[in-house]
Amino acid sequence: MTLEELEQGKAASLAEIAAAADAEAIEKLRVKYVGRNGSIPALIKGMKDVPKEERPAFGKAVQAWRAEVEAALAAKGAGARASGPAESVDATLPGRWGEPGVEHPLSRVIADAARIFGKLGFTVADGPDIETPFNNFTALNTPPHHPSQDRSDTFWLTNDQLLRTQTSPVQIRTMLAAKQPPVRVICPGRTYRRDTTDATHSANFHQIEGLYVDTKPVSLADLKSVLAYFANEMMGNGAGVRFRPHFFPFTEPSVEVDFTCHVCKGKGCAVCKQSGWIEIAGAGMVDPRVFRHVGWDPDTVSGYAFGFGVERIAMIKYGIPDIRWLYENDLRFLKQMA
Ligand code: PHE
Repeated sequence: MTLEELEQGKAASLAEIAAAADAEAIEKLRVKYVGRNGSIPALIKGMKDVPKEERPAFGKAVQAWRAEVEAALAAKGAGARASGPAESVDATLPGRWGEPGVEHPLSRVIADAARIFGKLGFTVADGPDIETPFNNFTALNTPPHHPSQDRSDTFWLTNDQLLRTQTSPVQIRTMLAAKQPPVRVICPGRTYRRDTTDATHSANFHQIEGLYVDTKPVSLADLKSVLAYFANEMMGNGAGVRFRPHFFPFTEPSVEVDFTCHVCKGKGCAVCKQSGWIEIAGAGMVDPRVFRHVGWDPDTVSGYAFGFGVERIAMIKYGIPDIRWLYENDLRFLKQMA
């Protein structure tokens, strides 16, 4: 084949492709020209018979032909599925919606608490899940024989470390880091206890600690007013608080804090066992021994601390009967938080 014949062949092939009416015709032309046994590959195979001096020009021309045929085929949609409707869009199909995420109930309670206490001047402090016995127990005036230190209650790790059983060690970290009062923080985070999981227990749950220490006198009444404000902001419905005497090693005096039952608003119902109150938090005035452990003088500083369970508030507020629902990430459950 001469170069001239080659150019004619190319023009003819391009005209054929331009005239092809449907996908089937295009596929036939693809096979005819550039298919494995097509005419262009055959020319390339036959190059060895072309006189040596003509070979470069001939080769170039064949390659150009091939490129032009392929471009023409592609422009006609070759390569798309040979049969069936080529490239069709069904404009009547409903769109695909990305499902927007919703805030997990635990994240929501933590964010709400940060916002509410934030209005009272509290900032958010943080501490690690892995703690020293000093921060989790000793500095919190909890002696080695205290049952909470027991191997059956606490996850002890190697190297004399443990998974914190409460967020209270962040009190210690905060005071040690601040060096001097005032401190006013809340500390949300994970806590760990050797509890068998059931509807109301989990070996891993969340608490929010609160700590206020100042050089001016801080009283139990200050604590009560702050928690009353929090109760109403978090639960709504004019919820209030009541204090019941209790014991914690690191507060003196210590109280358990009840919120007005949000279901009956204090009248008495099955949820609050007819009392009108629901136990929410532990709290008290920071024990002088705790101040001494962080090097602060209990005669010149005073403060209060409180701690409550995030799961407990979420379960009460959103009517969640089983704590495990908070961890299973079942979309049917989570979607209800939207
Ligand atoms: N850390 C206590 C608990 O887990 C709660 C608490 C915090 C009590 C702060 C008093 C002061 O039960």
